[in-house]
Amino acid sequence: MRQTPPLPSFPPPDTMNQPATVSALPEGKNPALRVVPMPADANVHGDVFGGWIMAQVDIAGSIPAVGRAQGRVATVAVNSFLFKHPVFVGDLVSFYAEVLKTGRTSITVSVEVYAQRMRHTNEIVKVTEATLTYVATDENRQPRVLPA
Ligand SMILES: CC(C)(COP(=O)(O)OP(=O)(O)OC[C@H]1O[C@@H](n2cnc3c(N)ncnc32)[C@H](O)[C@@H]1OP(=O)(O)O)[C@@H](O)C(=O)NCCC(=O)NCCS
Repeated sequence: MRQTPPLPSFPPPDTMNQPATVSALPEGKNPALRVVPMPADANVHGDVFGGWIMAQVDIAGSIPAVGRAQGRVATVAVNSFLFKHPVFVGDLVSFYAEVLKTGRTSITVSVEVYAQRMRHTNEIVKVTEATLTYVATDENRQPRVLPA
């Protein structure tokens, strides 16, 4: 009879050796988004794909942008993106987003991402930071002046 190969263990054994950068989530702030990545979001090593994190960051950043724009926005630029530490399947990932600056039609948002290693040490690690710019758009998908 064919043997089923063992499932990879998530997170991988060297998780314990990941240096911690913080031990607590930002005080007095609410995350725009919290989500637990699933095995389908990871590569064979158990690390979550960068593209999955980027998609969640875009969603999280759009939340304060939509609030400021009081309506629809489109992402016009990813100004910076730093993957400082890996994210693992089963981590509780929190995305903190806040408006940094606004222009005539644009809103620039910073997003900070923290992973709580739920399946091992419970340690909290700041894994990613990014800055994105959104543009308020009208029903024709054209730039719209921000409301006061
Ligand atoms: C977003 C979009 C409507 C903007 O239209 P546009 O004609 O390029 O707009 P403008 O050149 O007038 O620029 C609009 C604002 O974006 C800012 N902007 C444009 N390019 C930028 C860049 N690379 N980085 C930062 N800001 C930028 C401009 O400075 C301007 O801001 P301000 O009005 O506050 O001064 C258009 O580019 C678009 O539809 N892009 C595709 C969006 C998309 O599909 N995103 C992914 C899915 S949401």
